[in-house]
Amino acid sequence: MNELQKLYPVKEQAKAITHIDSETYEKLYQQSIDQPEQFWAEQAEKFIDWVKPWDEVTSVDYKKAEISWFKGAQLNVSYNCIDRHLATKANETAIIFEGDEPTDDTRISYQELHDNVCRMANLLKDRGVKKGDNVCIYMPMIPEVGYAMLACARIGAVHSVVFGGFSTESIKARVLDADCQVVITADASVRGGRHIPLKANVDAAVADCKDVHTVVMVERTGASVNWNNERDVNYNQVIDTYPAICQPEIMDAEDPLFILYTSGSTGKPKGVLHTCGGYILYAAMTHKYVFDYQEGEVYWCTADAGWITGHSYIFYGPLANGATTLVFEGVPTYPDAGRFWQVCEKHKVNIFYTAPTAIRALMSLGDELVEKYDRSSIRLLGTVGEPINPEAWHWYYEIVGQSRCSVVDTWWQTETGGILITSLPGAVDMKPGAAGKPFFGVKPAILSKEGELLEGKTRGRLVMTGSWPGQMRTVYGDHQRFYDTYFSQYPGNYFTGDGAKRDEDDFYWITGRIDDVLNVSGHRLGTAEIESALVLHPAIAEAAVVGYPHEIKGQGIYCYITLMCSSHESDELIPELQEFVAKELGRFAKPDYIQYAPGLPKTRSGKIMRRILRKIAENELENLGDTSTLADPSVVEHLIENRIIHE
Ligand code: PRX
Repeated sequence: MNELQKLYPVKEQAKAITHIDSETYEKLYQQSIDQPEQFWAEQAEKFIDWVKPWDEVTSVDYKKAEISWFKGAQLNVSYNCIDRHLATKANETAIIFEGDEPTDDTRISYQELHDNVCRMANLLKDRGVKKGDNVCIYMPMIPEVGYAMLACARIGAVHSVVFGGFSTESIKARVLDADCQVVITADASVRGGRHIPLKANVDAAVADCKDVHTVVMVERTGASVNWNNERDVNYNQVIDTYPAICQPEIMDAEDPLFILYTSGSTGKPKGVLHTCGGYILYAAMTHKYVFDYQEGEVYWCTADAGWITGHSYIFYGPLANGATTLVFEGVPTYPDAGRFWQVCEKHKVNIFYTAPTAIRALMSLGDELVEKYDRSSIRLLGTVGEPINPEAWHWYYEIVGQSRCSVVDTWWQTETGGILITSLPGAVDMKPGAAGKPFFGVKPAILSKEGELLEGKTRGRLVMTGSWPGQMRTVYGDHQRFYDTYFSQYPGNYFTGDGAKRDEDDFYWITGRIDDVLNVSGHRLGTAEIESALVLHPAIAEAAVVGYPHEIKGQGIYCYITLMCSSHESDELIPELQEFVAKELGRFAKPDYIQYAPGLPKTRSGKIMRRILRKIAENELENLGDTSTLADPSVVEHLIENRIIHE
């Protein structure tokens, strides 16, 4: 362990505030493992208002990938996030909206949130949306994205939020897969002063989706848009005509709440399905304990609603706890790289949660833009999405947090619904770069590649040996894929896809994905998706994509392509292909490097040896491993000679 990774004991200041100290953590954790039913029943009563209690706390069969929590119970998630707070918090701020421009902000009280969500729910009902219908949401980071999600939850519709940076093709694939008949969008989004025509993207995406009968459009920028009178509804023009009351639909705990598509190592993105009861309990409870949320505090998670972090820790978790949650439309570098800290000063943010990629990007621009702003309100800093390198951790802790705030690393996944491994503030010491220890009820284990359980200080593949309420329940429309992806490799365990090590103090350190999933600026991408996008281009015969370490983004995208005809190689083709992928998938998927590969290293059975391609992209040539099993070992020489050396 080097100097940068040394242990930081629990902050005295955190100890004073938090209700969970080290002893309580150990005791509660043990109880959650020894008596899970009792533990979860108590938490469920404490955090959630149920219409009807459960018949059975949990039933889990990993052999069939069948998981249920609180079966027989009834509730409504939107009621839990809004209505139950009205008696005491009607006039308190639920959402602080900070727009792209620093002059643009608003506060939305719990009463206003209620009224806006009810109106949106009534609008959806009016357009025929019923319990169990799937609704696609493709929106900027404005309060209406929250209204739309909660309106769906209120009437029992299942939302599928598609990140606003995704392309037309990605929206179309998701609308079709979930058979959404309604899409909620905005005229355009504006981030860092840049406008993205969301409505036009939706128009193009749904042109081939015959079941889409309604597109609801929120006016954000006033951009001119094409209009289809039959199909399109202007939210701003009609919303005041709908009543601000809408009875919440009574839902079973195991009824679906949302679908969220995420990338895997093979095939098209999977629709991760979460259900009402277990998810909202887990989101609320982790939000409360991991961020140590206290009444009246301002909490800011900088994620986008299009990712799971936005679902669980901008909207569902904080609102279930009656918190004040900040919704930020912009980017960390607009109008300048001091924006995060300027917003913290302006709104007196107490808890700040962001991704290592943002921390690294801001760190590279110096301390001045941080120190210019008053950060004395901040008491807790969180990170999510990828391992944080110790240098970035130290900058976050020392410069942003003035060496007085707890830093909580939070490891989790779209599939897990909420945080599973973390350094619980006030309870677990901080080790820069370590994700920490399991949250209550969570049972991580490390296995060898062959599936042998490894004890003590070790390194291997991270699995969960039991379930927790926030766990996904299925892949939408493909339960077999759910089983195959997560439960088939190591029977009896949930396989995370991540590698991890456990140290002498039982801390978990995530070492990254062990499959073909990339993590680019905290965005999850399958190499197969990028390859499929590349081969759609008429010039390309074959493509292989790998990740390489990138100083800011965590991982960069390196592509090898074989052309239909090698004489088509040209300097112009590369940028054209980069744009082509960006258009197919979204800008965040734009390849960093594309190398021509007249041949790819394949085994005699035709399998591409990615291990070799990864080493070449990383410029690590000493350790290429055995190349003698390749059908044509000479292709490796060519690839090495023509590799692109990056900084
Ligand atoms: O590899 C892990 C990494 O992100 C993956 C999950 O990505 P996604 O489903 O998009 O969810 C991201 C936000 C929860 C994981 O398999 N990851 C996430 N958080 C961390 C992390 N790696 C290391 N440390 C983390 N704190």
